[in-house]
Parts: sequence; C-alpha cells; structure tokens
Amino acid sequence: MKGFTAALLIWTLLSLSRSSSKAWPTHMVCRDGNLEVLYQSCDPLQDFGFSVDQCSKHLKSNLNIRFGIILREDIKELFLDIALFTKGSPILNFSYPICEEDLPKFSFCGRRKGEQIYYAGPINNPGFEILQGEYQVLLELYNEHRSTVACANATVVCS
Ligand SMILES: *[C@@H]1O[C@H](CO)[C@@H](O)[C@H](O)[C@H]1NC(C)=O
Ligand SMILES: *[C@@H]1O[C@H](CO)[C@@H](O)[C@H](O)[C@H]1NC(C)=O
Repeated sequence: MKGFTAALLIWTLLSLSRSSSKAWPTHMVCRDGNLEVLYQSCDPLQDFGFSVDQCSKHLKSNLNIRFGIILREDIKELFLDIALFTKGSPILNFSYPICEEDLPKFSFCGRRKGEQIYYAGPINNPGFEILQGEYQVLLELYNEHRSTVACANATVVCS
C-alpha cells in the first residue's frame, strides 16, 4: 500500500496534544476486492501510523510494513500480544517477542522514551490464507516492565 506517507507521521506528531477523552480516528491499512483492514489506536495518549505493502486474503510471508510512532517508554525489550475475535468470541491469542535483550530483531530495539521510530521493511511473518469472515483484533505492544508502548484495535473484513 502506498497510502502511508510521512504526512501521516507528521500528523501523528501534531496530534499529541489532542484531548485524551476523544477516540482516535480510524485508519485504513488496506482495502481491495475482498479484504478490508481498519485500525484505531486504543492508547489514550497517542495515535500511530501503520501500513502494509500488500492487501490480499492470501497473505504472503515476509510482508513489508511501515510503522511510525513516538515512544512513550524505553524499548530494551518489546513484545506484541494479539487477541483475535469473531462476533465477540475469542478465537486465539498469541504473544510474539519483537525485541529481546539477547535477540534484537529490529534496528529500533533499544530506543529510548521520547524517540521517534519509523520502520519500513519486512517483518518475517509466515504466509497464510485469511478465511472469509469479520474479525476484531486487539494488539498491544509493551516493554519489559509491562508498560504499554502502543495499543490498537482493528477490524478485518474478508469476503
Ligand atoms: C475499536 O473499538 C471501538 C470501541 O469498541 C469501536 O467503536 C471501533 O469501531 C473499533 N475500531 C476498529 C477499527 O475496529
Ligand atoms: C485472549 O485475550 C482476550 C483479551 O485480552 C481475552 O478476553 C480472551 O479471553 C483471551 N482468550 C484466550 C483464549 O485466552
């Protein structure tokens, strides 16, 4: 997807002073013939930018993503929890280490609170096929002290 530009990141930075009582806008990750992916930040403190280079229910392995955020915590270690639901019923949960002290998988591992991250590159995911349906996904990034770094809820519609 080419939708993500530096403009979104700048806009994210400018939005930091926004009142925390309002919900963040919904962003589109991608939409094509049979797949639509939307997300919204669920971190009351900030929004972030995210996009992928491919939008297909046949998800290829090693997707390229773009991700931009200002760190609200140090990330010596960083973990991602994903919870997948359909029609409100939990389907599966998993947790994935992104930065570990002995195994920093990405160049941004070890960055400090207040720094800005902009990552564009592969994420080394497995390929799989998204089954037809509508899914709700909760994603949370957190550090070694279990402090939230980013939080999002997403909707995936696959027809
Ligand atoms: C995120 O969650 C809120 C509150 O449950 C919901 O209103 C919103 O539609 C969700 N956004 C997306 C993109 O799934
Ligand atoms: C997965 O996580 C969600 C949200 O944290 C929780 O509501 C759900 O019960 C969990 N499901 C399983 C199977 O652990």
